[in-house]
Amino acid sequence: MTFEQESLHILAESMAILERGFDRLPDLAPELDPEAMRAVLAETAVRLRDNDPYHHPLYIGQMLKPPHPVARAAYTLAMALNPNNHALDGGRATSAMEKEAVARLASMFGWETHLGHLSGGGTMANFEALWVGRELRPGKAVAASSQAHYTHSRLSDVLGVPFRKIPVDPLGRLDPAELEKTLRGGEVGTVVVTLGTTAAGAIDPLPDVLALRDRYDFRIHVDAAYGGYFRIAGNLASLAREAFDRIGEADSIVIDPHKHGLQPYGCGCVIFRDPAVGRFYRHDSPYTYFSSNELHLGEISLECSRAGASAAALWATIRLLPPDPGGHFARGLESCREAALAFHAALEADDRFAPLFPPALDIVVWAVRAGSATESSARARRIFEAAARLDLHLALATFPRPMIEPAHPVLNWDADTIVCLRACAMKPEHREWMPEILKRLHAAADA
Ligand SMILES: Cc1ncc(COP(=O)(O)O)c(C=O)c1O
Repeated sequence: MTFEQESLHILAESMAILERGFDRLPDLAPELDPEAMRAVLAETAVRLRDNDPYHHPLYIGQMLKPPHPVARAAYTLAMALNPNNHALDGGRATSAMEKEAVARLASMFGWETHLGHLSGGGTMANFEALWVGRELRPGKAVAASSQAHYTHSRLSDVLGVPFRKIPVDPLGRLDPAELEKTLRGGEVGTVVVTLGTTAAGAIDPLPDVLALRDRYDFRIHVDAAYGGYFRIAGNLASLAREAFDRIGEADSIVIDPHKHGLQPYGCGCVIFRDPAVGRFYRHDSPYTYFSSNELHLGEISLECSRAGASAAALWATIRLLPPDPGGHFARGLESCREAALAFHAALEADDRFAPLFPPALDIVVWAVRAGSATESSARARRIFEAAARLDLHLALATFPRPMIEPAHPVLNWDADTIVCLRACAMKPEHREWMPEILKRLHAAADA
């Protein structure tokens, strides 16, 4: 058995507790044809088999992590009511849970006051941060590294804001000297600092960007959609530690509970240091909907309807596994990082592979040694496919020559990029499964 099922019984118990809160109401006969539903659900289950085993440690490809059973159960429990966190009228309890959960994330970054909310995902969360940046620095550009998530250039386009792509160093980190060249033009209003890039897990040098902010006028938005929870991990190397230690000096932060926070999709989160930015969200609401003077989350969010169930799931997860340094949740992140370090060490020792650099968090990227860049890419693709046939699921990522060259995987650079293999060791179990993962990787490379 690979799916956890015990929580289904606990869910039934908590459903009975929820039901007691409404037992004053006249009974409702359930409108359900169990036989028809059974047939359709069986069909659904069969359709869902056409997926890679995202929940299993042998899946170590994309940034996918199974939600914790408590998150799944709390989400399903809330679905009995299907609250809408647009307004207190549609989701009173879950709005309060959302405010508490977001405050807990903000306090992880050292913010006692803040303005923030959950969102459909990292894209919407980053959108709001860039939009607020545009309102505060009208006419100015957004700058982000060439390894930042592509969403930043696309969102800048949507916002009608110029975008400046800043080159990276060989470790895939925004190059502060290159950033300064652009800042000198005086045209940048917001700098995106990514703590945990999507492809390689690189950590931009936040302390250097903070030093530049003392001399140039711009806002700092930290995109920690993937990496944010590593703030509480105790086993980071010094460059990452120094960046995370100063994350609270940014103007806004995005962290995605649906990446490393054990949540179902879609659960992103944007947080602003200065609560006064709430003024930009002001709108003419239909007053009948916002029916109390208390803050409705729809008044500080661009999205209107949002799943209250997401807030219930995150709140329950934080209750069970508080994001405290040294706690059980933090140890889970540390295990992911240990898995990535062990993976990297094993790749270093294998003369078929050329890992790009030690993982800053828990993403490992490596090129396959070959005579030429084109042949290296072709070999990576073959290993990727052979591994999948052995039920080891990796990912592919293309990197530019300057990020790969220090690893010397090829002699003949007949292309400017190489397709590399990539693994996101995002499950704590990856640490114990590493011998099996390596066994299958070797078999795939020999195939
Ligand atoms: C650093 C970073 N920012 C933004 C995003 C976009 O987030 P989402 O896919 O939740 O919209 C991702 C997704 O992987 C990411 O890694």
